Amino acid sequence: MAKSWVNSAERDGADLHLELSGTGGRRAALIAALREAVRDGRLAPGTRLPPYRSLAADLGVARNTVADAYAELVAEGWLTARQGSGTRVADRTAPLPRTRRGSAKAPPRARASTPTASPSRPALSPPTHDLRQGTPDASAFPRAAWLTSYRRALQQAPNEVFGPGDPAGRIELREALAEYLARARGVRTDADRIVVCSGFAHALRLLFGGGVLRGPLAVEAYGLPFHRDLIAAAGVRTVPLPLDEHGARVDRLGPERAVLLTPAHQFPTGGPLHAERRSAVIDWAWARGGVVLEDDYDGEFRYDRKPVGAVQGLDPERVILLGSVSKSLSPAVRLGWMVLPERYVEGVLAAKGEREAWASVLDQLSLADFLASGSYDRHVRRMRQRYRSRRDRLVAALAAQAPHVEVTGVAAGLHAVLRLPPGTERSAVKAAAWQGVALDGLAGFRHPETDMEAADGLVVGYATPPEHAYEAALEALCRGLPGAI
Ligand SMILES: Cc1ncc(COP(=O)(O)O)c(C=O)c1O
Repeated sequence: MAKSWVNSAERDGADLHLELSGTGGRRAALIAALREAVRDGRLAPGTRLPPYRSLAADLGVARNTVADAYAELVAEGWLTARQGSGTRVADRTAPLPRTRRGSAKAPPRARASTPTASPSRPALSPPTHDLRQGTPDASAFPRAAWLTSYRRALQQAPNEVFGPGDPAGRIELREALAEYLARARGVRTDADRIVVCSGFAHALRLLFGGGVLRGPLAVEAYGLPFHRDLIAAAGVRTVPLPLDEHGARVDRLGPERAVLLTPAHQFPTGGPLHAERRSAVIDWAWARGGVVLEDDYDGEFRYDRKPVGAVQGLDPERVILLGSVSKSLSPAVRLGWMVLPERYVEGVLAAKGEREAWASVLDQLSLADFLASGSYDRHVRRMRQRYRSRRDRLVAALAAQAPHVEVTGVAAGLHAVLRLPPGTERSAVKAAAWQGVALDGLAGFRHPETDMEAADGLVVGYATPPEHAYEAALEALCRGLPGAI
């Protein structure tokens, strides 16, 4: 015997799925299922249980069976019954067993399993000083402004919003993005050529997993292994392009028909793609009938160099621009966009499927409002100042305490690269760990097939710690550097 029950929230308050199974009769099965639900936390202390009649009707059992089961569990101390307040889960229930990751109530540590995480993720306990690249300052998420946008979006949303979503994304968001990207990043597009997705990683899945683009794909010799793995999982080979002080050596592009670049701020080494190479790569795309994938992951954060617009602005027919809010707002929002040459729009939409299955339509509307109301610009401006000041403090601390260490890639973005003498990177990562500092060496980002000379360095994500913890993180970083004063 097995029976499922989903209690209607409208009628009785709480939703709960119960499985009645076993051979001991319905009363025993119901008692066991309720005990289990309390034990594993699905029925929290204080939760009011449904009246006998409605539970009996939902389960297809006699009313007395439910009454008996409740009485038994009250007697055992699992439930309480009080005149006027119904039957509730008792407050004093046994604590849940501890899980391997910590207390059962503690939220899981997102970073350890974040797919866009750096190459070396720590196992369990959080580091004292987290200087891994990849995450903006989580304590600075603009909660109040986001809530205002969310509330406004919800109030103004027509009813059709609550039906299945358009796989292209909400028109309000696509229009707001077209305006914002043109203004802030020099992108040339209209809303029809934008497809909303859940971030850069999702865009890669759609393009390669969805069969829109075929391999092999040229990539920069240093990049996020997670992205290379995603592409490989779609059966596409990546071919490394060497880097020099002007960015990717696009003159070394081979027979590939697509290339993935981080032109505004090479990830992770840090420089912009030289102006001549920006036009050279467009020429290459025309000559080959190919396409440039532009990962514009942190294009908003530039400090003291001239703004570098998106390569897409040079030629919207030869570039797919991919962006997301993961650096500007938070990787938890899971919203991104693809600005496509017209010929790819249909294929990407087909890869997405008939309905929006990835990006919450309500979040899309919130972001549309956030952009259109100017909150996004305000937030980016505020964060730019904060990160610039952190960058300056990092550079000053290194100049004072480790003057022999060269700092590069600091004109933009949320991380810097500290160059080290050859052969010293691994011990420097270890020395940092001794000081409680988590960071990555450059080696973890290197394409396994590149023949480019290896560069030793530490990638320091200066955006990650909350403001109050930054100074201590810097001190610990400097203490761990070889030859620090
Ligand atoms: C190089 C690079 N590209 C893109 C992204 C954005 O990825 P996603 O939008 O999937 O969070 C990141 C991380 O934020 C990144 O480091």
